[in-house]
Amino acid sequence: MNRVKDKVAIVTGAARGIGRATALLLAKEGAKVAVTDILVDEGQTSVQEISSHGGEADYWHLDVSQETQVKQVFAEVYRKWGKIDILVNNAGIAGINKPTHEISEEEWNTVMAINTNGVFLCTKHAITYMLNTGGGSIINLSSILGLVGSPGVPPYHAAKGAVRLMTKANAILYAKNNIRFNSIHPGFIWTPMMEEALKKIENPTEALKYYEKQIPVEHMGNPDDIAYGILYLASDESKYMTGAELVIDGGYTAQ
Ligand SMILES: NC(=O)c1ccc[n+]([C@@H]2O[C@H](COP(=O)([O-])OP(=O)(O)OC[C@H]3O[C@@H](n4cnc5c(N)ncnc54)[C@H](O)[C@@H]3O)[C@@H](O)[C@H]2O)c1
Repeated sequence: MNRVKDKVAIVTGAARGIGRATALLLAKEGAKVAVTDILVDEGQTSVQEISSHGGEADYWHLDVSQETQVKQVFAEVYRKWGKIDILVNNAGIAGINKPTHEISEEEWNTVMAINTNGVFLCTKHAITYMLNTGGGSIINLSSILGLVGSPGVPPYHAAKGAVRLMTKANAILYAKNNIRFNSIHPGFIWTPMMEEALKKIENPTEALKYYEKQIPVEHMGNPDDIAYGILYLASDESKYMTGAELVIDGGYTAQ
């Protein structure tokens, strides 16, 4: 209990999946949580759930690819709670799954705008506040697909690889300012994103079995498996950790 007591956290893409689990867990451990997303109803449901358990949270509509929105929402969170201690750059999309030579520039840019530029924009505006209030912790959702290649989703690989190194560069740049940056690399996690990706495949049940066979623990993870890693990186328990990558993948990349 109280592992992030009285800290102020912004979680992007917090309406569902890993972001939602993270917002709920941070609030349970004492943080005031800005639930941000483009899904209004689901975002407000996350807030209601936090409130019903005695936690403190509010919802802001935020498309992470739009700098004017990022600037405005972060200013409002700062005005409401007086600081920003934690930023979880979670919002992301799977994007187009085609071979590289068939991908249009627009399809490529759509993935980059959210998965990479969105992380940059939110990071940029959080740093401004963290510099004035003595530091903070920024946790970036990369992926195992930001560590290793696969034959699918080329823009997603590129975007998540960029997030991994953006994290390390910023860790060095802002170490003296007490702002820590770490990336999280989930393996296959059962969320709406995963469900939607499977639905697009011809035989989803067989595909799920196939994927699970590739994972040493032989099953997918759940959003809480990732949220607990984020909680650790958000808390002062990880105060000596910056520029690191936390892989949570049931052993997938150990092979
Ligand atoms: N599920 C997995 O297996 C897995 C594995 C590795 C990494 N990840 C990463 O974890 C993060 C969360 O994934 P998830 O599986 O929970 O996905 P999800 O689709 O279930 O949830 C993503 C959330 O991001 C929001 N979002 C999408 N575009 C947005 C935008 N432009 N601005 C703000 N919010 C936006 C969505 O509305 C949604 O609430 C993503 O960055 C994803 O790439 C997921």
